[in-house]
Amino acid sequence: MVIVLGVFGLFCCKFYARNSVLMTSPSMPANAPLDIDVELGARSYRVRVGHGISKTTAAEMIRPGEHLLVSEPRVMRQHGQTLTHLLGTKIKATLIVPSGEQSKSPSRLIRLVEDMLAARIDRRTHVIAFGGGVIGDLAGCAAALALRGLPLIHIPTTLLAQVDSAIGGKTGVNSRLGKNLIGVFYQPRGVICDTAWLASLPAREMRAGYAEIYKYALLGDAAFLTWLETNAADVLRREPAALAYAIATCCRHKARITSEDERDNDRRALLNLGHTFAHALEQAQQYRRALIHGEAVAMGIVMAAHLSAHLGMIARDDVVRIRHHLKATGLPTRPASLPPWPDFIATMRRDKKAEEGRLTFVLLRALGQAEVVTDVHEGAVRQAVAAAMAESC
Ligand code: GLY
Repeated sequence: MVIVLGVFGLFCCKFYARNSVLMTSPSMPANAPLDIDVELGARSYRVRVGHGISKTTAAEMIRPGEHLLVSEPRVMRQHGQTLTHLLGTKIKATLIVPSGEQSKSPSRLIRLVEDMLAARIDRRTHVIAFGGGVIGDLAGCAAALALRGLPLIHIPTTLLAQVDSAIGGKTGVNSRLGKNLIGVFYQPRGVICDTAWLASLPAREMRAGYAEIYKYALLGDAAFLTWLETNAADVLRREPAALAYAIATCCRHKARITSEDERDNDRRALLNLGHTFAHALEQAQQYRRALIHGEAVAMGIVMAAHLSAHLGMIARDDVVRIRHHLKATGLPTRPASLPPWPDFIATMRRDKKAEEGRLTFVLLRALGQAEVVTDVHEGAVRQAVAAAMAESC
């Protein structure tokens, strides 16, 4: 039996009503910063999107003092000096963790908290998370734990982190039983999405971030979907206005959903479109660089589209449209091989959305409208995955 839990349409209508200018006119100057507020009462904060905004925004968001910087080797090599110059604040200690998803482990988390404590912090010490999604998730969780909570500022340096993971307060690490199963909701004090950092981002990472951008369009924004079908190449080649528009549009969606369902009890689950499959693929790969998160999301979106079509929720042509678009951007649309089925399905049964092991997926009711569907039969999942695997890569 398929039970539909949530419908995204109402959210979309409200979103359009309040953002129609931005939605229909992506022509704002690339250098005009855009402020997006995540409204959570006393824990509200601002996300600023723009080019070259780090210096002025940091001055606004970070109180003077000595703070902690958490980053990764590649980012520090490329941007460390620039950032410390721009910050205009003293750095008490710079804590570097190895790049890559494997750093999102319980042992690395505890080590980072201990390193923070060893830097003689107090409760006013800010943690500045400077890097991609792994740094944001790990540093955010460590900030939540150290002294039971330090102020946190995200300065995301990847497209994926700027459009998704730095906003909304999800922090955590992976368990041996699955991705992101250990963590807390902990909102930052501010997020600085400076597109200047993206100039040197490898093309593979840009594409990975694009998978999350496309996810936002598919799950709740048909007009943005159409816009992306015309403008994806501009976003990927970092054309300033297109890039800022795409990032800001995703941030507005994320801010709205977070304000409405901070703790992921209802519609926030829709942000997991493609992620149940993606997390199981990543888990099977042991989080190695052969498959990065955004690539797994692209594959997961295609599998979710096939499952939606299999359940009669969207047309086969919609699946083709999705797959062709992702493929045209250079994203992989299926893995080279699947993990053994019992392992793959067991991981999906442990997904955070699943209740009592019932298979639960975010599926598409239309292009631009997603729903959470529970109690999906394993046979349907298996057929949808087989259909995805039968397509050319
Ligand atoms: N990335 C999904 C969420 O923040 O809820």
